[in-house]
Amino acid sequence: MIASDGYITDTPYVPGFFHHMAPIAMRYAAVLNKKAPVASPECFRYLELGCGLGRVFTTLAAANPGGEFVGVDINPDHAAFAANDIRAGGLANARILNCDFASLPADLGLFDFVALHGVLSWVSVEVREQILAIARRHLAPGGLLLVSYNAMPGWAHLQPIRGILRQYAQLREGGALQKVRDAMAYLVLLRDKQAKYFVDNPAAAAFVQNLTNQDLHYVAHEFMHEHWSTYYFSDVVNLFAGADLSYVGSLPASTNYWELCIKPEFHDLFRTSQSRLVSEAHKDICANTAFRWDVYGKSCAVVVTLADRLACADDLVYRATRQDIQFPHQVNLGAVISTVQGEPYESLTALLSRSDLRLSQILEAPELQGFDLAGVVHALDLGVALGLYEVVANPLLDAPAVLPDQPRVLHPFNAHVLATGAFGGRTVALASPVTGSGYNISDLDAAIVHELATAGAAGVRDRVLSRFQASGRSMNKDGQVVTDQAVIASALEQAIAQAQSTLVPQLIRHGILAAA
Ligand SMILES: C[S@@+](CC[C@H](N)C(=O)[O-])C[C@H]1O[C@@H](n2cnc3c(N)ncnc32)[C@H](O)[C@@H]1O
Repeated sequence: MIASDGYITDTPYVPGFFHHMAPIAMRYAAVLNKKAPVASPECFRYLELGCGLGRVFTTLAAANPGGEFVGVDINPDHAAFAANDIRAGGLANARILNCDFASLPADLGLFDFVALHGVLSWVSVEVREQILAIARRHLAPGGLLLVSYNAMPGWAHLQPIRGILRQYAQLREGGALQKVRDAMAYLVLLRDKQAKYFVDNPAAAAFVQNLTNQDLHYVAHEFMHEHWSTYYFSDVVNLFAGADLSYVGSLPASTNYWELCIKPEFHDLFRTSQSRLVSEAHKDICANTAFRWDVYGKSCAVVVTLADRLACADDLVYRATRQDIQFPHQVNLGAVISTVQGEPYESLTALLSRSDLRLSQILEAPELQGFDLAGVVHALDLGVALGLYEVVANPLLDAPAVLPDQPRVLHPFNAHVLATGAFGGRTVALASPVTGSGYNISDLDAAIVHELATAGAAGVRDRVLSRFQASGRSMNKDGQVVTDQAVIASALEQAIAQAQSTLVPQLIRHGILAAA
């Protein structure tokens, strides 16, 4: 069935969690770009438009009990899935509205955060105008909006893929899923027989390879809609300007640094450009950007001084992403290899490997005295962009002195997600009230943690094995499906040992499990 606005509704989407949509990520993107996010970390309102199965806003609701979360989706099956998660997860701070964007309740009120992922590029001009009207009416002054979209020029050579899939699917019988299955087979045939389009566009051939590994539900939602557009960055800036919003910055953090995304040959072009809007346009061409996650703000105050930053965002906590960071440290973000070495990186990394700290605490740390403060802040932000550090809502909890045989799942939402996600064939996102975001684990780990939490370590291998067999999932080793039961049992045993020694303590540190 095709909904009246051209959006397919007979094929459910796939559940997913995206860290960029967390309030903590949006607030950091704002402050990194010298814009003050007004929302208090303890008390805010968050609206997700086109939430699909709702696993972003429901996970965030469990991770941010002080926030109020509303999801909107036109698809009744999606809304029912989200409603079930809200009920089973005991989420008193979340609700789902099963309606289209033109029919939001008049008394919905203002939101500090609005987010839409995988929506803008897939809706009609009319629905896009409805989204802009919501941004204009419902984003609070000082509020932040996150929007993702298929970007140009990275999509230019891939557009025919969508055209081929849709045209072929229209000739086929059956529901959206069957049509997309047939159309994918046709696309693969064209690629394998070296149709000239694929010969002339090798990246398109690689893209098809990637598509064959995707869930068909995802492929259907990505390509089968009547409306499908790619945007230049400047088009989206102009659209949101019409809703009184201006561009703040982008996610991941690295994309705010052109020098991390662009080959050195082009650096002069950027150094001489005065405007961020112009730099972003250059960047998309030089980096062939195909997808963007952009943050927009409504009348956000400008962060001029360090004192301003501390006044609006000193609740953000910074921590080293790993304990084993060595210097010189090299990171390749695609276009260039960046080398980090010397001070203040080495002292800062040593400090953040020992403790999770707010910016004011970092600046007061004895080992950083004597360094230029602006240099420390720059190193901190560049370190986040390069993946040395991450930004979380609270310091992680201490690891348990003794590993528990039967850890306890702290939030009913996480217990529900573990029970339903075990061997479900997809990554499972758990809600961390410590980071204020989600924590992704594999469906095998979800099964192990669920079994440990519900019945303890004794006999866990046999229970996980029988769940695995009942799930119909297969196990791959070295690219081959494993059929030998002894090999499967031994692999599960190893995974359980690893989960008990490493994952369970991590989940305790993230406030997802408790030792008893
Ligand atoms: C590609 S899915 C993305 C789902 C989710 N944001 C995610 O990334 O997992 C787009 C979603 O927008 C919803 N949608 C499309 N048009 C809509 C409209 N006019 N009003 C409300 N929801 C709409 C669809 O039902 C679908 O669930």
